[in-house]
Amino acid sequence: MNAITSASAIRTVHVPLGERAYDILIGPGLIVRAGAEIASRLKGRKAAVITDENVAPLYLKALVASLDEAGIASAAVVLPAGEKTKSFEHLITACDKVLEARVERNDYVIALGGGVIGDLSGFAAGIVRRGVRFVQVPTSLLSQVDSSVGGKTGINSRHGKNLIGVFHQPDLVLADTDVLNSLSAREFRAGYAEVAKYGLIDKPDFFAWLEANWKAVFAGGSARIEAIAASCQAKADVVVADERENGQRALLNLGHTFGHALEAATAYDSSRLVHGEGVSIGMVLAHEFSARMNLASPDDARRVERHLKEVGLPTRMSDIPGELPPAETLMDAIAQDKKVKSGKLTFILTRGVGQSFVADDVPASEVISFLQEKHA
Ligand SMILES: NC(=O)c1ccc[n+]([C@@H]2O[C@H](COP(=O)([O-])OP(=O)(O)OC[C@H]3O[C@@H](n4cnc5c(N)ncnc54)[C@H](O)[C@@H]3O)[C@@H](O)[C@H]2O)c1
Ligand SMILES: [Zn+2]
Repeated sequence: MNAITSASAIRTVHVPLGERAYDILIGPGLIVRAGAEIASRLKGRKAAVITDENVAPLYLKALVASLDEAGIASAAVVLPAGEKTKSFEHLITACDKVLEARVERNDYVIALGGGVIGDLSGFAAGIVRRGVRFVQVPTSLLSQVDSSVGGKTGINSRHGKNLIGVFHQPDLVLADTDVLNSLSAREFRAGYAEVAKYGLIDKPDFFAWLEANWKAVFAGGSARIEAIAASCQAKADVVVADERENGQRALLNLGHTFGHALEAATAYDSSRLVHGEGVSIGMVLAHEFSARMNLASPDDARRVERHLKEVGLPTRMSDIPGELPPAETLMDAIAQDKKVKSGKLTFILTRGVGQSFVADDVPASEVISFLQEKHA
């Protein structure tokens, strides 16, 4: 676990994707240095910055000043915060701003914000002029460890989440760990669910490290940087092995089939449930369902729940405030999820902590009776 124990201010994770290769820089002070980092790596000198109304007052000025200093002209658009911004309506606003800023093929769209802004801006960057360059400046923990890496971009449809979008890799990711200090405790925890996910997929040592060190990760400093770097490395490894999700990349969806159904069931209302919280409950359900299918020991499900609960994440459907629709409605949402292939349910199941696998033949009848039990 060298990646975990060594300490230095800025960590770089390289994503070796041939002509689409890029670096992820992780550490303090990166927004102030953004202009210099971008100018030294990319040719263009024009940028459209897309951000949201929570992040703009905190960091937009510093980013624009740093771009100015590096000779990069920028225009900014501030969108509403929240999942509902991943819509056609806001995509149009974002695309118009990119064109208005006269961003050409070698210039860039810069996403300054969480996963919502990253997904929407990446989609705009992927389609305006058939693709312009894209820089991610992720500001939430979730976006630093997950959504800013890997090139999946998109918006939601009334049929479900992330159903409309393109693959468009960023050219650079600048994860400034200082900005996490202004993130709410709840959003930090939600991002932490995705950190834990990497351990649960195939890194049991990392999960054990998190069980022992999560307080230091939450406190900030080098443990936090190392956890983010380890997560980015884990994601990069999966993305490089399967960029367009023909197989193993689906492992990153551990907990997400259940999680997305819960997000749909709460109408993407962040006062009730945010993405990472849905993933937390979803991961516990995936472990419990695996135990029910006699694939894993129930002790593993208990261990996973214990840790997620300890950090303050919801782990049960009953932890979600308000009424949930019946199990059958959750099942419909699962069937709408894009990981359903030719009538059979594809789930990420597990043989134990750090031993997840893609199961593409899961009987719907088992899922529905499991959900009915859990819902009761
Ligand atoms: N593309 C992918 O591969 C991928 C992977 C995982 C998740 N996602 C997507 O990411 C989205 C969730 O991302 P998220 O959790 O970052 O949500 P988000 O973008 O809504 O950010 C969460 C909240 O925190 C605020 N915020 C962000 N940074 C802040 C900061 N530094 N200080 C104060 N407030 C800050 C935001 O304004 C927002 O209110 C979902 O839409 C999900 O589908 C995409
Ligand atoms: Zn996720």
